[in-house]
Amino acid sequence: MSDDDGVVPTSKPEDGRDVVLVFDTTLRDGEQSPGATLHLREKLEIAKQLARLGVDIIEAGFPAASPGDQEAVKRIAETVGREPRTDKFGRPSPPPVIAGLARANKDDIDKAWEAVRGALRPRIHTFLATSDIHMEHKLRMTREQVVDRVREMVAYAKGCCDDIEFSPEDAGRSDPKFLFQVLTVAIKAGATTLNIPDTVGYTTPGEFGQLIADIRRYTPGADKVVISLHCHNDLGLAVANTLAGIEAGARQMEVTVNGIGERAGNTSLEEVVMALYTRRQIYEVDTNVVTQEIHRSSDMVSRYTGIVVQPNKAIVGANAFAHEAGIHQDGMLKHKRTYEIMDAQTIGLPDSKLVLGKHSGRHAFRRKAEAMGYRLNDEQLNACFARFKELADKKKTVSDADIEAIISDRLYQPIEVFSLDRVQVQCGNDSIPTAVVRLRGQEGQVLTEAGFGTGPVDAVCQAIKRITGTNARLVEFTIQAITEGLDAVGDVSIRLEEREPASAERPVAGGEPRRRRLFSGRGVDTDIIVASAKAYLQAVNKLLASRDDATSVIAVGANESQGVRV
Ligand code: KIV
Ligand code: ZN
Repeated sequence: MSDDDGVVPTSKPEDGRDVVLVFDTTLRDGEQSPGATLHLREKLEIAKQLARLGVDIIEAGFPAASPGDQEAVKRIAETVGREPRTDKFGRPSPPPVIAGLARANKDDIDKAWEAVRGALRPRIHTFLATSDIHMEHKLRMTREQVVDRVREMVAYAKGCCDDIEFSPEDAGRSDPKFLFQVLTVAIKAGATTLNIPDTVGYTTPGEFGQLIADIRRYTPGADKVVISLHCHNDLGLAVANTLAGIEAGARQMEVTVNGIGERAGNTSLEEVVMALYTRRQIYEVDTNVVTQEIHRSSDMVSRYTGIVVQPNKAIVGANAFAHEAGIHQDGMLKHKRTYEIMDAQTIGLPDSKLVLGKHSGRHAFRRKAEAMGYRLNDEQLNACFARFKELADKKKTVSDADIEAIISDRLYQPIEVFSLDRVQVQCGNDSIPTAVVRLRGQEGQVLTEAGFGTGPVDAVCQAIKRITGTNARLVEFTIQAITEGLDAVGDVSIRLEEREPASAERPVAGGEPRRRRLFSGRGVDTDIIVASAKAYLQAVNKLLASRDDATSVIAVGANESQGVRV
C-alpha cells in the first residue's frame, strides 16, 4: 500500500518511529451527541479546520442517514477532500482521506460511495455487529449469516472503492474467536483497515490492549492491514483504552474533537494526541497532527455544536494551563516545568505580549489576531474591531481571552434567521420581570415584542418565542465568566428541546416514535442578559433553519432497529 494507489500507508517512519493515523469522526460519531446537530456550512468549516489540524482521515458523515448527511459528505469530499495542504513541517501534503459510514447493505454502501467518490482519497467504512447480544436482539442474525454478510458486503464495497474499512460493531463484547473469524473474512474480501470498536465503552485498558494483540496474532492477514481503535467513554476509559491499543500495535485511532459523541462520548483527539506527544519516549509513535491547531479546533467544535468544554478538561479546558495555588505560581515563576508538563503554545494558545486597550487601533488589533493565529478577512476584522472597541470602553483591560471570545463569536456564527437588534429588561425584587426584544428578520424587517417571566432571562426568552413563533423547552442554561473581575465577559450556553410534532402528545402516524431534537446556542457579552438573549436566539435560529435544512434530519423509525445512530 502506498499514497500512490490512494490508500493511506500503515505507518510512515519518522525518526524511526511509526505514525499512528488519526481518523476523526467528529462529524459522524461526534455529531451524534445530543444537541450537536450541525448544518452544512458548519460541517464544511469544521472539515476545513480538521484538514488544517492534520488529521489523516475525516469521517464526514453517514450518507444513508438522511439526504442532508449525504449532501454534506459529498460537499466535503469535493472540497476539503481535493485540496492539498501542508503538513506539520510545512511540507506539501495530500488532502485527508474522506470516509463515509455505511451499514453492511448495498443501499447504504451505494449511498456512501456516491457521497465520497468526489474525494481524491475516498473510503467506505462499513460495519456489522459481532457480539451475541447485538446479533441476537438487534440484527436477529445467526453467526453464519453475519459471516456471509460481511464477506458479501465488504466485497461489494471493494467493487466501488479500493480503501475499505470494516468495523465489527461491539467488538469489545464479542466472542474473540468469532471476531477473528469475521475479521479474516473481511480481509479476504478486501478490507484495508480493520477498526475495533468498543461500542459501549465496556472494556478496560488491559483487556482492550490484549484484544488488539490477539487480533494481530490470530487473524491471518492482520499484518497486511491497518488495525484501528474506536473507543467510547462510558467508563471514562476511552483514552486509556486507545493508548493500550496503540501499545499493542494498532496504527489508526478513531477520535473526536473535545471527545464529543454518543452518550459519554468518544476518545478525545486532543488528549490522546498530546499524551503520545508529551510521553513519546514511552509510546515511541508520532501522529501527523499540527498540535498548534488543537485549541482552535476545540473552540470551533464547541461553538458550532454548543457543547461547552468543561473547565477542568485535560488539554483544552479553560483551567488546563491555569495555576491558582500560590505555591504553584511561585514554582512556575522559578521554573516553568515545576508544574507544567506541556507548553500552552504547543496546542495553539496565544503567548502574545501585545496588550490591547481602548486606544489601540485596527492595525494593532489585526496584529494581535494574527499572533493568536486567526486569519480575518476585512469584513471580519471590521466587525471584530468594532466589538473590541465597545468592550474596551466598558472594561479596564481587554484580555487575550476577551479577544478570543470576540473573534470566535464572530467567526463561528451559525445560520441567522433572526438577528438581535435590541434587548431591554426591567426587573428587581419588587417588580414583574419584563423584557422588550427587537429582532430583525432576514429581509431586514423589524419585529418587537414584550415578554414576562420568572426572571429577566425568562422574560427575554418569552419575548423571543413570541416573535419567532417557536415553543421549544429550555433544558439547559449555563453561564461562565470568561475572565476574572466584576467587568468579566459572560459566556452563556443554552440548550432547547423540541418534540416533533410539537403539538401532539402521541406518536406520529405510522407508529414512529416522536423525535426529541436538541438545539444549542451560545452568546458572549459583558451584559449577561444580552449574552443570554444571543444564546437563546442562536438556538432558536438553528431550530428554525433545521426545519428547511435536511442536514439536521436524522433518520428514525424503520432504520432505527439497525441503529442508524450507531
Ligand atoms: O461505536 C461504534 O461501534 C461505531 C461503529 C460504527 C464504528 O461508531
Ligand atoms: Zn462509535
